[in-house]
Amino acid sequence: MPEAGYYSSKKTDDICEDLCGEQTSRGGLSMSRLRCALRGFDLKALLLLFIGAPVVIFIIYLHGQKVTYFLRPLWESPPKPFRTILHYYHPNVSMEQLCRLHGWGIRDNPRRVFDAVLFSNELDMLEIRWHELSPYISEFVLLESNSTFTGLRKPLVFANNRRRFEFSESRLTYGTVGGRFVKGENPFVEESYQRVALDQLIKIAGIEDDDLLIMSDVDEIPSGHTIDLLRWCDEIPEKLHLQLQNYLYSFEFHLDDKSWRASVHRYRGGKTRYAHFRQSDDLFADSGWHCSFCFRHISQFIFKMTAYSHVDRVRFAYYLNPSRIQDVICRGADLFDMLPEEYTFQQIIAKLGPIPSSYSAVHLPSYLIQNVDQYRYLLPRNCKRESE
Ligand SMILES: *[C@@H]1O[C@H](CO)[C@@H](O)[C@H](O)[C@H]1NC(C)=O
Ligand SMILES: *[C@@H]1O[C@H](CO)[C@@H](O)[C@H](O)[C@H]1NC(C)=O
Repeated sequence: MPEAGYYSSKKTDDICEDLCGEQTSRGGLSMSRLRCALRGFDLKALLLLFIGAPVVIFIIYLHGQKVTYFLRPLWESPPKPFRTILHYYHPNVSMEQLCRLHGWGIRDNPRRVFDAVLFSNELDMLEIRWHELSPYISEFVLLESNSTFTGLRKPLVFANNRRRFEFSESRLTYGTVGGRFVKGENPFVEESYQRVALDQLIKIAGIEDDDLLIMSDVDEIPSGHTIDLLRWCDEIPEKLHLQLQNYLYSFEFHLDDKSWRASVHRYRGGKTRYAHFRQSDDLFADSGWHCSFCFRHISQFIFKMTAYSHVDRVRFAYYLNPSRIQDVICRGADLFDMLPEEYTFQQIIAKLGPIPSSYSAVHLPSYLIQNVDQYRYLLPRNCKRESE
């Protein structure tokens, strides 16, 4: 539309010049030139200017984020690629042979493993996570705050539900940290404050050099056999990111395999820092699951959308409308109505639209499959959430 308008007014300009060219060369009167210029803007062009321009501005206001995301390949180059480590696993292959396949030796006894998380309110994910990892964990470390990253008050959800985690009690180091409640601060500041507190708690839990430390969010769940392998094999990298399968809302919607923030470290006192950013180039393929926004209740979606580091993405109040959220979940669409975060046009276009549904419940965390009645909402074909 705007292009067509541009060309049509350009055309009338040319016509005007043709008609008036002689006149100006004859008389050189600036008044007649002005008249010509005005005649050039016909009614259509004026309408276009005064109605079209605001409409275009309004569309950019509504979809500006989409425009910038779509143009991402122009303004941002992809991060340096990881060195992906081929991952072998089969339940019927011995640990010695598995270690050897990765070019590692086997130890006489396994390393101790510490699983440390910052907890918000994701009780179901925590239960699935800890049961998946339990056979291999020496110490569970959990820190929770009475503040969200965006500085809103929250109850101590783990403390109030601690009896659900009886099985972990003898191996649990639990800590709380008071929020700072600074108004209008970047949520990443509170987040890093909480991660520093978690560093202290890991030391209190008694970690020692060469123990394995898992750094990941609660919903980034390493598979048990991956952690078992890493604790038994010698000469694994000092820091290793875990490539996880990305799911959205439940294990029905498999997005891609590009989750990489979770990592496993051979602990070094004074050097190892709890972080959730890139700390190494090594990435261990197919090491577990990352289930984002995998909540039982719609209210938890709303809480997460407003309480965590993505609050700026809630650009319109109707994004938080419960029936809209339910509809988005069942379609596998995007809660924030955003475009895929990719670095090439080809990948953006390939990922446009909702995520296709899966019918697979194969290769999922064991505790989920052992308790399908309790966790039905996480499985394919069960997108309807319970009302509270
Ligand atoms: C597991 O391995 C043993 C021998 O190593 C073999 O006898 C058995 O059939 C295997 N089982 C499966 C399920 O592959
Ligand atoms: C948060 O926790 C800290 C430390 O436990 C406490 O001093 C503070 O009063 C709490 N704040 C709120 C708003 O609950």
